[in-house]
Order: sequence, then structure tokens, then C-alpha cells
Amino acid sequence: MVNVEKFIERAVREIRDAAGEEKVVMALSGGVDSSVCAALATRAIGDRLVPIYVDTGLMRKGETERIRSLFADANLRVVDAADEFFEALAGITDPEEKRKAIGEKFVRIFEREAKRTGATMLLQGTIYPDRIESEGGIKSHHNVGGMPLDIEFKGVIEPLADLYKDEVREVAGGLGLPAEIQHRMPFPGPGLAVRVLGEVTKEKIAIVREANAIVEECLVEQYRPWQCFAALIGLGTGVKGDVRLHGWIVAVRAVGSRDGMTADPLLLPYEVLSRMATRITAEIPGVARVVYDVTPKPPATIEYE
Ligand code: XMP
Repeated sequence: MVNVEKFIERAVREIRDAAGEEKVVMALSGGVDSSVCAALATRAIGDRLVPIYVDTGLMRKGETERIRSLFADANLRVVDAADEFFEALAGITDPEEKRKAIGEKFVRIFEREAKRTGATMLLQGTIYPDRIESEGGIKSHHNVGGMPLDIEFKGVIEPLADLYKDEVREVAGGLGLPAEIQHRMPFPGPGLAVRVLGEVTKEKIAIVREANAIVEECLVEQYRPWQCFAALIGLGTGVKGDVRLHGWIVAVRAVGSRDGMTADPLLLPYEVLSRMATRITAEIPGVARVVYDVTPKPPATIEYE
């Protein structure tokens, strides 16, 4: 556990020193990591911080509207980049390639926005487990291993690089951020792209977005999981009405964890599982069946890719 007041004081000083007189661009996703970064950086450098929300087209249902209203007072630039991301992802099936394509796109957009706004530094909400998992070769988190090497910034500032998620949440409390942000479930930087196996298409993302919304509605408030979500894991046969259907198989995942490094599936009541399966197959055309993933991490990871 960190000493929150000391951490805040030190981080603000470090950001101020690292930034010098420069303007600093950052990606604000509305999650706890980037929100804490934004709050620290605002204290450190005020309006020399340029927060950008990139609508990748891979975000959860209602997310862009939520961010707009949550950060209505911040100087937030909203970049609609959905078409660019889908274009960059077309034809890519390998999970690592997907992450790299997304990382590359993010950085290019930041560079572009930085040029527009005169920012020369990049601030990132990388936390300790992101670094461990990227360095350990488990996967490239888009904000670490997926970063192109010819990045055009004078410097990258990562004030949370030594913290675990629960420590970031404590700092969020210390900074007085809203409880909704402080306790928000983690959401991966590459978004719903890592919740569809194989190629990312608009159709698959639309389906998995609806399924994620249903899972969150059914589980978040009552069970307060570390994370819960839905993923499209393949095609299978089903029957809707009298018609046989070759439709999607949706996997539901709900886990408890302290830091994301290990995780255990929640022991959900059968009625809850059954209700989710009914809603997902009834409300989303094209879904043939729903399964619940009972694998801990390890050996599985939390996300599917
Ligand atoms: P895994 O799937 O590796 O996930 O067990 C551990 C935690 O990290 C999140 N995650 C990511 N976060 N970029 C991120 O910013 C990524 O590429 C990424 N991949 C996984 C995941 O949601 C979980 O909380």
C-alpha cells in the first residue's frame, strides 16, 4: 500500500519536472488509471495538459457519451477514429498483431493531435502489472509493448508505473475523484477488439458490445466483480423459432482478483447464469449459445486474447 498523500505530492512534482515548459498530451479513457493521471497532471501543469479521448469504435456501449459528460469541464478533445481503427485491423487475426496495430494507431493519433495542439510530451497511465506482463512476454499491452519505436515525442511520462490497481484506486480516493471512476472495472486499452477471437469487424464488435452491456447490467451492481464481460469465441449451431442457425458462441467471464495478476471465476447462482443466457440469445440476433468460463488465471488469462 502507498502513502497516498506522499505519492500525490511526489507524482505532481515529477510530472512538473518532466514536463518542463512543454505541453503534454494524454489519452483519457475514463478508467481509473487515466483519470488519476489526468488529475495529477492537472495539478502539476494545469492547462498545459491536453487530454484526448479516442473513440476507437471498440468501446463499450454508451462510453463515449459517458466520457463527454464526466469530463465536460476538462479541456477534452474527442477524436472519432472508429473508421481508422477498423481499417487498421482489417484482415488481422493474430492477437499480438491486433494489439500492435491498435498501439500503432493510438500513437499516430496522439502524434497528430500533439502537432495540432503543440504538445511535445506523452503522458500514459501504465501501471505495474502492464509492465510485468509485457516484459514477461505474456502479451503486449497496447500502451507498453505495442508502442512503435520511432515515436515522435520528446518524452513519455508514466506516473503510475510502480502501482498496482488497488493502489491506483486509493490514490483516486485521495484525489477526490467520483466513486464511479474510483471503483470502475478495468477495461483493456485495445477495447472490445480483444473480446472477439480472430478478425475484428464492425458486425462482431456490435454484437459483443450488446453482450457486454447485458453482462454488466446483470452482474456489476450485485456482485461487484473485479471484471465481468462477454466475448465472441466462435460459431456454433443453434435454433431460433423453427430455423437452425449458425450463430455466435458468447462466453461470459466474471472474475474476482486483487491486481489482475491472478483471478478466480465467480461462483454465480445458476438462475443468474440462466437469465444472462436467455437475455443474450433473445436480445441479440445471431447469437446461438452462451457459455460461462470457469477457468482461473492461471492457467487462463482474464481476457480471451
Ligand atoms: P489478462 O487478460 O492479461 O488481463 O489476464 C489482466 C488485466 O489487464 C487488462 N488487459 C489490458 N489492459 N491493455 C490494457 O490496458 C491491454 O492490452 C490489456 N490486456 C488485458 C485486462 O482487462 C485485465 O484487467
